[in-house]
Amino acid sequence: MSEEAGVAQRTTSETSVTGYRREAAESRPPLDYPGYGSTRLRAPTRPPILLPHSLSEITGPVYGHEGVGPLDHDLTRRHDREPLGERIVVGGRVLDGDGRPVRNTLVEIWQANAAGRYIHAADQHPAPLDPNFTGAGRTLTDDDGRYRFITIKPGAYPWGNHENAWRPAHIHFSLFGPAFATRLVTQMYFPGDPLFAYDPIFNSVRDPRARERMVSAFDMDSTVPEWALGYRFDIVLRGREPTPFED
Ligand SMILES: [Fe+2]
Repeated sequence: MSEEAGVAQRTTSETSVTGYRREAAESRPPLDYPGYGSTRLRAPTRPPILLPHSLSEITGPVYGHEGVGPLDHDLTRRHDREPLGERIVVGGRVLDGDGRPVRNTLVEIWQANAAGRYIHAADQHPAPLDPNFTGAGRTLTDDDGRYRFITIKPGAYPWGNHENAWRPAHIHFSLFGPAFATRLVTQMYFPGDPLFAYDPIFNSVRDPRARERMVSAFDMDSTVPEWALGYRFDIVLRGREPTPFED
């Protein structure tokens, strides 16, 4: 079986298993990117060893499906009152490299609040916490691979990577895909952010077309009158035009 095709359509007596492709190298940010300071410390010092795909990678456990609550997708209804900020709807489809919907897959998000502050001990910059916003949610895709979150638009925040460093507003995404070994993590940005040109994390994805795949699109179809703007963010897990992922 060729490496390009990955583990393709193997079938056991119990279950049909769908394979996956390795992502294109140019869509993957380098492990050590000079402008992104902490990559210098955590990047491996020796070349990675490419292991062949095996059946166990795509039949292993996928965690988190159990116990996804009916309101876990709505980050504005996790506390007694609504959080401050601009309410938004974020949705899209999760597809594999061949355009097929990835069904019943866990999508998790986490983000800063409207003031750009995380509930995390490491975030002590002078912006207020919101007692009505935790900033984490999860959901499962439906039969068309669709997901939908209700949240508030996160603020930009300073991150100390270099002088006057600010992250563009973003939402972190984690997707398990069809198997544990396919879990991937990325960030979703908002269109037209003036901080794109200054952000080494965004620009560590060197292919400009791949960077565009990390930017959501304003979506009038999912905008709810008198209530919330909609943003569409489709995620392609594998293939020629995948959404760039963090390592
Ligand atoms: Fe962040």
